[in-house]
Amino acid sequence: MMQVFNTITALQNTLDDWRAKDRTIAFVPTMGGLHDGHLALVKLAKQKADKVVVSIFVNPTQFSENEDFDQYPNTFEQDVLLLERNQVDGLFSPSVEQIYPQGLDADIDIGEIGNILCGASRPGHFQGVVQVVNRLFDIVKPNLAVFGKKDYQQLLIIKQMVAQLSLDVKIISHSIVREKDGLAMSTRNQYLSADERKVSPNLYRNLLELKREIQKGQAINVAVKQARMQIEKNFKLDYIETLDANTLKQITDNTSEIAILCAIFIGSTRLIDNVIFRR
Ligand code: PAF
Repeated sequence: MMQVFNTITALQNTLDDWRAKDRTIAFVPTMGGLHDGHLALVKLAKQKADKVVVSIFVNPTQFSENEDFDQYPNTFEQDVLLLERNQVDGLFSPSVEQIYPQGLDADIDIGEIGNILCGASRPGHFQGVVQVVNRLFDIVKPNLAVFGKKDYQQLLIIKQMVAQLSLDVKIISHSIVREKDGLAMSTRNQYLSADERKVSPNLYRNLLELKREIQKGQAINVAVKQARMQIEKNFKLDYIETLDANTLKQITDNTSEIAILCAIFIGSTRLIDNVIFRR
């Protein structure tokens, strides 16, 4: 039976019990609105540790003023059912006051990687992500935590934070889970109208086409220019970048893996996707 915790104290009492019995703990932080992508993270977490804790917390500090914090999908009851069905041991669902007793100001410096790509379009976003993940890690003290690769920049930034602060938590990632037609699963897909949903899989097709062109030996800037034109047939492009997948810096002779990273708008919905491949 899954236990639901609304307070840090209640959660930590149970975590202490588990640790006293030498149980390892895997943690999957989420903002709710759960879909099969989240459930894949849960399944991986279950394989890697004795106990799995999921958090549902829509973190205000990673949204800017003009973003969808107030409308962010809340499917709490359904989320609870899904997590129970997937044999999660503990659900942590705290209030904003529990997470930020000292106020909302972020305080970890994440440097340049927080200012590019999604960080350029969403100023302060990654500062908020790092702030909440650090706080959640501090509360849960998991042995490992699982993140999805759709938020690829987020994943690298969290790994960087763990190294910077010497945190004793292993970061594990899961590949992108897609709908049958290729659309990357996202809570925000719920915002798409039927027509928008129909064109949305073109994004992944365009990214795969770009990957093929690069693998065929096409010059990257030429291939990206072509991809940009294709994407703009269906979407308003926020960014498309082809970078070193390990550093998110420009590709060099030493680059072993390439990341194609893209963000677009369909109507007012912003979606991201990426393709990572060996050179
Ligand atoms: O990826 C997400 O859902 C969020 O950014 C996270 C990691 C739960 C932090 O709020």
